[in-house]
Amino acid sequence: MESSALRKSELHPSISDPVLDTMNFLNEVTLRYPEAISFAPGRPYDGFFQTEEVLAHLRRFLDHLADQGASPAQVRTAVYQYGPTAGQIREIIADSLRRDEGIDVPAESIVVTVGAQEAMMLVVRALIRDPRDVLLVPSPCYVGITGVARLLDVTLGPVPESPDGFSLENVAAAIRAQRAAGRRPRAFYLVPDHANPSGTTLSESDRAGLLHLAAKEDLLILEDTPYRLVSPGEPVRTLKALDRRRSVVHLGSYSKTIFPGARVGFAVADQTVVGDDGRTGLLADELSKIKSMVTVNTSSLSQAVVAGALLAAGGRVSELNAKAAGHYGDAMRRVLDRLADRLPAARRAELGARIRTDEAGTTGA
Ligand SMILES: Cc1ncc(COP(=O)(O)O)c(C=O)c1O
Repeated sequence: MESSALRKSELHPSISDPVLDTMNFLNEVTLRYPEAISFAPGRPYDGFFQTEEVLAHLRRFLDHLADQGASPAQVRTAVYQYGPTAGQIREIIADSLRRDEGIDVPAESIVVTVGAQEAMMLVVRALIRDPRDVLLVPSPCYVGITGVARLLDVTLGPVPESPDGFSLENVAAAIRAQRAAGRRPRAFYLVPDHANPSGTTLSESDRAGLLHLAAKEDLLILEDTPYRLVSPGEPVRTLKALDRRRSVVHLGSYSKTIFPGARVGFAVADQTVVGDDGRTGLLADELSKIKSMVTVNTSSLSQAVVAGALLAAGGRVSELNAKAAGHYGDAMRRVLDRLADRLPAARRAELGARIRTDEAGTTGA
């Protein structure tokens, strides 16, 4: 061995965890076999992207700044310079959330991030104080949150899904079990719409029940929402839209709705944080502090392109994606037809397998 070689066992243990290989592996496989249809990553269909449109989106945002009274020098700075850590398109995102999602929050409660992935990182870092704190997650859950927990040495508390999907009783039981073991359940991360990987979507009554439980148990909900506006059918209201007690930190992604190459997402963190000196601020301000030491700010160029796309759609990401949602709906129905052909009921019974579809259009098997 060279004298300068590093021992993996001397590096952070997360590096040896197979979870950290997952994203890379999925991306590599897709790049190596472009003709294969992979069901593993949530990779948007390429066919609706138009190369020139990126330039039009950028132009639109620059024109918007000028229309808002920015001087040519200010417009130049907006794309070329380091930007504000919390982001420079927060008003446009807040406006879009109001129009599309009925989420009415001040722009100051939004932090623009490098995808929802960074938002998870910031929120988990901020909320988990010591080894007694536990982050509850559905089981199975999205590998991105497992990876964040691993990197930050955060303990996860699994909440098993029932055979029919989400179970409020299982969340309550997990909270009780963690408390009985002397731990503090701090937050529950979930994907309430078309969860990755289970496909589960929570009904509106389950959402109301979860918010009630969160308030009772002093638990925050981390709501990750990448797929809700690219799925066919009318989406159920977000937990954040139903949240009356600021129990929900909403994590947004433009990867599936605009394009993943932009790497733009956001967190809505309108929770009040009180300092020992009695001063108050927003959780978003604390997330910004952390972000300033992780990515400094989200690429100004990427934010400009995403903002241009939002402006072009009048803030309506849902309308922007009607065609894509239709395409994914057709793809799902085709998969279901093939599954039914290849795995008829008798064969499924033999294998002990089930095909579950939810009304909003996702499948778990
Ligand atoms: C459940 C879930 N959350 C978040 C993400 C990542 O979002 P982003 O590209 O905005 O980091 C994905 C991507 O596949 C996902 O499936």
